[in-house]
Amino acid sequence: MSVVKTLGQFIIEKQKDFPYAKGELSRLLRDIGIAAKIVNREVNKAGLVNILGDEGTTNSHGESQKKLDIFANHQFISALTCGGECCLIVSEENDDPIFIESDVSHNAKYIVCIDPLDGSSNIDVNVSVGTIFSIYRRKSTEGKPTLQDALQRGTEQVAAGYIVYGSSTMLVYTTGKGVNGFTLDPSIGEFCLSHPDMKIPEDGYIYSINEGNYINFPDGVKKYIKFCQEEDPSTKRPYSSRYIGSMIADMHRNMIKGGIFLYPPTSSSPKGKLRLVYECNPMAFIIEQAGGRATDGFQRILEMEVESLHQRCSIFVGSENMVRKAEDMMMKYS
Ligand code: AHG
Ligand code: MN
Ligand code: MN
Ligand code: MN
Repeated sequence: MSVVKTLGQFIIEKQKDFPYAKGELSRLLRDIGIAAKIVNREVNKAGLVNILGDEGTTNSHGESQKKLDIFANHQFISALTCGGECCLIVSEENDDPIFIESDVSHNAKYIVCIDPLDGSSNIDVNVSVGTIFSIYRRKSTEGKPTLQDALQRGTEQVAAGYIVYGSSTMLVYTTGKGVNGFTLDPSIGEFCLSHPDMKIPEDGYIYSINEGNYINFPDGVKKYIKFCQEEDPSTKRPYSSRYIGSMIADMHRNMIKGGIFLYPPTSSSPKGKLRLVYECNPMAFIIEQAGGRATDGFQRILEMEVESLHQRCSIFVGSENMVRKAEDMMMKYS
């Protein structure tokens, strides 16, 4: 009978990996876990409570905000505010950074960048959605944290993770020493270690891209898609095309099975649609820690300059050999 290891127990156990740790990051991760359980509860009964559909507002990206976007955003912001370990929040749903000033957070040292609900277009049709988070340590040493604290390169992340609200609810995270996955056991209300030391296969046979944008893709992407579709049994091609429309779900599938996810430039998103700070950087950190690769077709995502909170970028991410093949096509044809 295997012993269940909860997220809380695991976090404490791993704290010894960081000799100077005083428990703040552990408490921060636990705060995120609590908010995730609350969001999960609403996602699981979304059709029964008044939480489907649009809020009637738009965010800074011009996206109509779903009620669940707002609910999730509120839950994570309050959990992080009450937890006392976070001094600054960047959220997809807030144009400006949220500076946390409360007596419990007066010497908080962590910054959390979050996509509170990823895959909003899938909420009303009962398809998996998720939450993505990225954690930095503040660089400024006195007074209030600064905007610069929130504009750090992806290589500076101290932790990153996602929650996927799917057929089961999983929390997957890294602190830079590998990736571990936890499945929520609703009967005890705990995330339990279910996927220790996750590694993405270096090869895969699934490509994930919104081919509706084909005519606007760079030539290198068009060539890569044709490569995926060619008949070649020796390399198990044609690959399978799978696109859920929630980055988190597409990425999680590829983490388990191998595969590549691409969101290249399109006419409506000439710099790519996905946001660097709270979608691409955290996912790139996780995928690299699991042995995969994440670039914009040319440059490592984690090394990209962060100039603004909601800046967008292209992303080619997943099994290393597949990403490298797509990069070769970009180098040759774009
Ligand atoms: P969000 O719901 O947080 O705004 O993110 C949606 C993103 C991402 O989850 C997904 O991969 C992508 O949008 C899908 O975009 P298209 O519908 O343009 O394919
Ligand atoms: Mn959105
Ligand atoms: Mn998103
Ligand atoms: Mn979102």
